[in-house]
Amino acid sequence: MSQEEQKSTVDLYSQYVAPTYGRFNIFPQRGEGVFLWDENGSRFLDFSGGVAVNSLGHSHPDLVKVICNQAAELVHCSNLYQHRGQAELARLLTEEVVGINGKCFFCNSGTEANEGLIKLARKFGEVSPSSIGEPRHEILSFNGSFHGRTTGGMAATGQEKIRSGFGPLMEGFKYLPFNDVTELINGVSDKTVAILMEPVQGEGGINVASSEFLSAVQEICQKRNILLFFDEVQCGIGRCGDLCGWRVIPNAQEIKPDAISWAKGLGGGFPIGAIWIRDKSINDLSLCDLLGPGTHGSTFGGAPLASSVASTVVRKIIDENICDNVINLGELINRELQSRPIPFITELRGLGLMLGFQVNSKAINEIRDFQKTNKTPALFLVELLADSGLLTVPAGSDVIRWLPPLIVKENEIMEALEIMRTVFERINT
Ligand SMILES: Cc1ncc(COP(=O)(O)O)c(C=O)c1O
Repeated sequence: MSQEEQKSTVDLYSQYVAPTYGRFNIFPQRGEGVFLWDENGSRFLDFSGGVAVNSLGHSHPDLVKVICNQAAELVHCSNLYQHRGQAELARLLTEEVVGINGKCFFCNSGTEANEGLIKLARKFGEVSPSSIGEPRHEILSFNGSFHGRTTGGMAATGQEKIRSGFGPLMEGFKYLPFNDVTELINGVSDKTVAILMEPVQGEGGINVASSEFLSAVQEICQKRNILLFFDEVQCGIGRCGDLCGWRVIPNAQEIKPDAISWAKGLGGGFPIGAIWIRDKSINDLSLCDLLGPGTHGSTFGGAPLASSVASTVVRKIIDENICDNVINLGELINRELQSRPIPFITELRGLGLMLGFQVNSKAINEIRDFQKTNKTPALFLVELLADSGLLTVPAGSDVIRWLPPLIVKENEIMEALEIMRTVFERINT
């Protein structure tokens, strides 16, 4: 064995991988359904779901099959050509996911999808200028939002900690308080061209847009000719119990966004990002044709392999009524927590299987073992859960996120709740 092979994974990371993440000492090797096994053969119940990616669980046989079959036929061809798989996926997303006429553009990640939305807004601002004839370019987003790590995605993100140190940032973004109708009305200006929002904020701690706020956003967009963009990168494609996350919010079924971004769960683990743009007429053009030839592109976007995997994921979610499972199990978790509260958890927020357990930070601060660390309360608890075989994800400093595969079963949910209860009861004594 060479010297390199003898090094532990952690040593290889520290020597060769840029330290952009605070990584856990967890070394996954193999997965099946909701379970992951590490290099030593220890089993984890994976409720991190690759951070809302593994919609069908790990190594789903249908996903494995489509990857193998499509790879054997055609992995990649240029976007200069027309591959049926990409066109079929665009049809599926338009007709069966959104159900509103429009067109799709494909890329490879969530942040790239949002870059597409930002470019769409800029183009729209040009053809639909302000009252003094200048291109409109201002995009409103919300405090606590997360839209990605590229320069545009970062500039759109309403969290100072994400943007800090990378100035000067791309101009033209304004951040408003989430779920605050008055601030929204006061925040719109003659320059505003689009509103970009996560119907359910993920990284910001699982905050669901209120019905009142969503209708106010739609109303102001219609009144002021502003585009309404939903970032459904985390909350879309079934995660909240509907293929469109916002439709799970009460009274929001009729809300019609002008464009949507997706990634994460769309590929079930295979990288793909996409945007859908509404067929809405502006002057003598349609919004969905505004990004014309030469204006935008992606070498890998919507390549045959990614497209057939994503079509398989979406088809399965639709054909097997997986959204019903998501809704039922989300309700089960809520019921269980109400009937048997878990120490340190003060609230459960979210929709379907996009859930945030609010941690009582004050109570955690009193624990001696916690005082010895410099971790956030959420990170401290997430690590303890991982030590007991349950993988979850922190969101902000005091929220624990559950994002299990959408195919998770009731007994697996009960096992996860039991682990959480046992671990938190132990440190509560
Ligand atoms: C709502 C939202 N938008 C965009 C992104 C960025 O996606 P990606 O990491 O695929 O670029 C994320 C990632 O967490 C997200 O949650």
